[in-house]
Amino acid sequence: MALSIIILAAGEGSRMRSDTPKVLHTLAGTPLLGHVLRTSHALGAGRIVVVYGHGGEQVRAAFPGEPVTWVEQSERLGTGHAVRQALPHVEPRDTVLVLYGDVPLIAEHTLRHLVALADESGLALLTARLEDPSGYGRIVRDAQGRVERIVEDKDASEAQRAITEINTGILALKADRLNALLAAVSNDNAQGEYYLTDIVALAVERGLAVVTASPRSLDEIMGVNNRAQLAELERSCQRARARELMLAGVTLRDPARLDLRGKLSVGRDVEIDVNAVFEGEVTLGDRVKIGANAIIRDARIGSDVIIHPFCHVEGADIGQGCQLGPFARIRPETRCAEGARIGNFVEIKKSTIGRGSKVNHLSYVGDSTVGSRVNIGAGAITCNYDGANKHRTQIGDGVFIGSDTQLIAPVKVGDGATIGAGSTITRDVPPGELTLSRAPQQTVEGWKRPSRK
Ligand code: UD1
Ligand code: CA
Repeated sequence: MALSIIILAAGEGSRMRSDTPKVLHTLAGTPLLGHVLRTSHALGAGRIVVVYGHGGEQVRAAFPGEPVTWVEQSERLGTGHAVRQALPHVEPRDTVLVLYGDVPLIAEHTLRHLVALADESGLALLTARLEDPSGYGRIVRDAQGRVERIVEDKDASEAQRAITEINTGILALKADRLNALLAAVSNDNAQGEYYLTDIVALAVERGLAVVTASPRSLDEIMGVNNRAQLAELERSCQRARARELMLAGVTLRDPARLDLRGKLSVGRDVEIDVNAVFEGEVTLGDRVKIGANAIIRDARIGSDVIIHPFCHVEGADIGQGCQLGPFARIRPETRCAEGARIGNFVEIKKSTIGRGSKVNHLSYVGDSTVGSRVNIGAGAITCNYDGANKHRTQIGDGVFIGSDTQLIAPVKVGDGATIGAGSTITRDVPPGELTLSRAPQQTVEGWKRPSRK
């Protein structure tokens, strides 16, 4: 049976106290709505309708090309009203699943189960038991335990408020039924809103079977209303990811101090020290060691690589057995071949570093091709920018570049060349020779330091 998903995301999110619409705040590096969309796609929904309101244009713009139908709810008249705005975009025979843009961790397996229940019965509700149910709609059951209706917190009697089974808001049923039920919903209640939850009593009246399911974990149904709740969900999301990694064979020095904001693929026996942040798509080969406080984004790290503490690596491909840092900055389009070493306070940008080459201290290498077995001395820099354009530096195999050398690009250094320390290289350097540019050293004999008068 075809599945349509309606995602309600028209809330103002005023408790976030933000200029950014609530559903665009990020959890584990992805906007809240992005999580719900990913789960929706994973469920194989034929149609996804997102109901947006406040900050709508910003929300749409954040998901360019997303295969969903965007529907604006210009007046926020309640969850029932919001769903009605979406229904014309859904096939009447589809099963509809209602989700929320600010409930990001709802799990695919929970929803699969709920949809299957809806297809067997009339209406399936996702409910949960909470120690403190205040604020939520309560599930009212009859003496036989059958669901009778949902009563909103603001409309509930004292006795109903004591019920601990709550409505998560997530439900599933056939679109044509949903449509018929919603048509009968009024806004005669404490908040003057069209409550989606009123369809439950109406369904019972019409003899539809109402069944319930519950999530495996309460995190799945937690909504984000303020930044404190966002931070709590972030932690539990990170805890779950850290656990998955450990079970996959990764040693985490402290699972509470890991931030995984994208997709991390790992080989065997990887070790990650504290406060590592991974963003985008990162692959770590076998036996990789990541030191404390590393930030790694969109990178491929080969087997046996050691990343010492405080490195920043982005958009790079680091070959087997390389060592980086501590305090190295590797910028996009950098490729380090096997066994290269990039040391402290070195910045590499858009460059290839050949096999076994070393750039160990205080250097800038940009827009360069560096051959294999090259040694770049402390403080050497490529001057790749003339104020208007960027130029390339090419360094052959087996080159030795003395400390504090400036290579004024465009420039080529031949294989096996040696450049004396302190040189400013403006012209191509021949292979195999010593080249240096250095003012002659002098000693002024008998010179006296000025003395105080
Ligand atoms: C709703 C449920 C309540 C449930 C709770 C779970 C109703 C009437 N009540 O209450 O039973 O326990 O969620 O969190 O459904 N929204 C729109 N358009 C609207 C109104 C709401 O898009 O006109 C969206 C909001 O952005 C939000 C969601 O629907 O994501 C829930 O709305 P909210 O007003 O927070 O409902 P609750 O009062 O929390
Ligand atoms: Ca809510």
